[in-house]
Amino acid sequence: MKYMLGVESTAHTFGVAVVDFEGRILVNLRDMYTTEEGGMIPLEVRAHHKRVAGDLYLKALEEAGIDEGDVEAIAFSNAPGLAPCLLEGMGFVKKKARELGIPVVCVNHCIAHLEIGSSIGATDPVMLYVSGANTQVIAYEAGKYRVFGETLDLGVGNFIDTVARYMGLGFPGGPRIQQMAAEYAEVGGRWSVVGEPELLDLPYSVKGMDVAFSGLQTKIRNLIERGVDKSKIAYSMQEVVFAMLVEAAERALAHTGKTELLLGGGVACNSRLQEMCRIMCEERGCKMFCPERGLLVDNAGMIGYLGLKMWRSAQATGNRQQVTGVFWDLDSVDIAPRERTDDVEVVWK
Ligand code: ATP
Ligand code: FE2
Repeated sequence: MKYMLGVESTAHTFGVAVVDFEGRILVNLRDMYTTEEGGMIPLEVRAHHKRVAGDLYLKALEEAGIDEGDVEAIAFSNAPGLAPCLLEGMGFVKKKARELGIPVVCVNHCIAHLEIGSSIGATDPVMLYVSGANTQVIAYEAGKYRVFGETLDLGVGNFIDTVARYMGLGFPGGPRIQQMAAEYAEVGGRWSVVGEPELLDLPYSVKGMDVAFSGLQTKIRNLIERGVDKSKIAYSMQEVVFAMLVEAAERALAHTGKTELLLGGGVACNSRLQEMCRIMCEERGCKMFCPERGLLVDNAGMIGYLGLKMWRSAQATGNRQQVTGVFWDLDSVDIAPRERTDDVEVVWK
């Protein structure tokens, strides 16, 4: 039996996964850098990754019940992401690959979020990819994954985390904001005459399939400084921001004629966003796919899963390593912090 190892280190999460050659994710471990207060500092995140990498690797092998010698190749997300974090991941992966005499598969993190959809039955989806750094509406067209819409300023997760920081909450802020919003919806719904909680008037910014958050961020900062009820802000913000995302995704479905919506990225863990997407899909007669939480957030399982597809394609075609992303020559492996989704030649499909 052969195995593919997946390694993730593009941002706050260091992950190691073991995928078998049938594409089953046997183990998907991750260790996320968190803070009680304040955001994340790239060099501290790098130190975190350095600290946890070795143990996580051993634990993954142990939980999968395999030896190092059973690993056929290591897939790692070399793009896009924070350079210090990517470098730490690459250093770790190259060292292991050298020791074991095996190749490295360079995987684009964003595309891995999309490809993991095929593990739950999505065949040709529009993906709403909503994470910390990224907010994109992506779909496959003519040999590439194309970005149909995206944020014009901040990633939605970073935006939510920033608002959480203004409120004095720690990182990541998304889950805490969700909780506050849900509490407000409970109570606010009971108080209001129409049965719907009262909403703050917030700017709504969608241009075609693109979205923008900076105006909203300024407005919310002012509201917080003026002492407006934080749970009301959390609730109103979620309603407005998620409506923007759903509108962009719906427009991409209409534009491409595709009939599947796939969610990806940590913000897609939000149950209110999932609910709004589900309603939109039902109304359009589309199918919605939402991976389990462990495969939505940054994780190494999706990296190993796509790495395996790329590995198979490289073996089948014998293509050059720069095209397939499978590198035997480890000196040629490099990080690409700013690689864009549509820079990648999709040769494995
Ligand atoms: P990428 O590298 O793909 O941009 P990322 O590094 O931001 O990803 P993810 O794990 O995909 O990492 O997403 C993390 C983000 O998800 C954080 O901004 C966090 O606040 C947000 N998040 C997590 N859970 C929720 C939730 N329930 N509601 C809203 N946001 C959430
Ligand atoms: Fe991610």
